[in-house]
Amino acid sequence: MTIKAFVFDAYGTLYDVQSVAGVTDAAFPGHGDYITQVWRQKQLEYTWLRSLMGQYQDFWAMTRDSLAYTLKTLGLEATPELFERLADAYNNLKPYPDARAALEALAGYDRAILSNGSPAMLAMLVRNSGFEDLMKAVLSVDGKKIFKPDPRSYEQVEQKLGVTRDEVVFVSSNGFDVAGAKAFGFKVARIERVSPAALREELNAAGVIGPKTMFKALRMQAENLGHEADWTIGSLSELKGLAG
Ligand code: LAC
Repeated sequence: MTIKAFVFDAYGTLYDVQSVAGVTDAAFPGHGDYITQVWRQKQLEYTWLRSLMGQYQDFWAMTRDSLAYTLKTLGLEATPELFERLADAYNNLKPYPDARAALEALAGYDRAILSNGSPAMLAMLVRNSGFEDLMKAVLSVDGKKIFKPDPRSYEQVEQKLGVTRDEVVFVSSNGFDVAGAKAFGFKVARIERVSPAALREELNAAGVIGPKTMFKALRMQAENLGHEADWTIGSLSELKGLAG
């Protein structure tokens, strides 16, 4: 098996979506965790719904519509300035602490991002995290106007990197993306940041199951859609070992 490229999902895989929590809680003290989790959950849901409806709008629109939905469920209102500041948190997500070193360790391979993010959002993320020099390409599904896990969204990796799908290790912590990438024909490494055992322990310990635990249950486990990952690893730093 020849591996030529490592292609990364962005949100939740290289960049921590939980890092908006500081901004959401500062804006609405006491509601930060709820806003952070429901916002991300809805943001993804809207990509799938719009794809099914045949009504594509880019991920910046999804990010804003899902934020508005979330605030509305709480009966909260944000001034236009505050709304912009909250939405902009998605352009300033923190990379996971091991992301840079993991990318650097794969220097012998093509490295790229393929994300739902709009081109402008991804450009800001990559620039703000200083990852520009580490990426051969930053690809957005916007090129195809269809979100992951539609197979068409993954096609441009072959076209833009000049590799075949079986030469690509696609890296994601999002279960739906793992299934989609695997169904498309990539080799897939799943980053499992919350193990099933850790989740069970958290569920059993919790009196009331909070938004973050729900998020871990809904978004951070392997999906039951077939198309399992070739590798399941606990962190990005283990990728180098897969390449051999
Ligand atoms: C992305 C979503 C899946 O970065 O998080 O494409």
